[in-house]
Amino acid sequence: MIVAPSILAADFSRLLEEVQDVEKHGAQFLHIDVMDGHFVPNITLGPMVFQNLKPHVGLVFDVHLMISDPYFYAKAFAEAGADYLTFHYETVEDPAELIAHYQSLNVKPGISIKPATDVRVLDSLLPELDLVLIMSVEPGFGGQSFMPQALEKIAYLREKKEKENFGFLIEVDGGINAETGRLCKEAGADVLVAGTHIFKAADRRAVIRELLEL
Ligand code: DX5
Ligand code: ZN
Repeated sequence: MIVAPSILAADFSRLLEEVQDVEKHGAQFLHIDVMDGHFVPNITLGPMVFQNLKPHVGLVFDVHLMISDPYFYAKAFAEAGADYLTFHYETVEDPAELIAHYQSLNVKPGISIKPATDVRVLDSLLPELDLVLIMSVEPGFGGQSFMPQALEKIAYLREKKEKENFGFLIEVDGGINAETGRLCKEAGADVLVAGTHIFKAADRRAVIRELLEL
């Protein structure tokens, strides 16, 4: 299992220390939630923040764009050090074009869908994707409860992935803890994003280990 702590729940006054701490405890990805106050009713951070972190951190930068214009800002995020760059299906008219643009920028393209979006809309895009991010809460805030409808979407993608031998990772985001993480793993998830559960834990090491070993 790949574990991706979401920095949304970190203490931003000590961001580098927080990120190095989860890296030390075995997380492989760093999930970076970018919100523009337009696609979602919250504002977080832009590329310069993680560009500053990049030289000090070995984690894979998994950037989740919750912004209305994921085309316009793509180059800035790619140059800032995103490894995976994930946009929301709901924000674009031509997702295939945007995926090709991300590939031309040498970032791994990912796509995300909100809880109400049908997973089958992604069918024709799957061969080109490096990551599919299933939202198990409404995007915008950490600390919400897991929506079990995500499990069917994960299972659907798992089946497609195995049948067609696709390379994309299946990631799930929102309300993940040991219990919901196990359900996601059983459904076929490859990557678990967890904000609150990891950063607010008394023993981060134990919590990360538990997710890694699900
Ligand atoms: C929500 C974000 C999530 C969030 C998850 O819009 O995409 O990554 O940080 O937070 P928790 O793990 O607290 O639900
Ligand atoms: Zn996220």
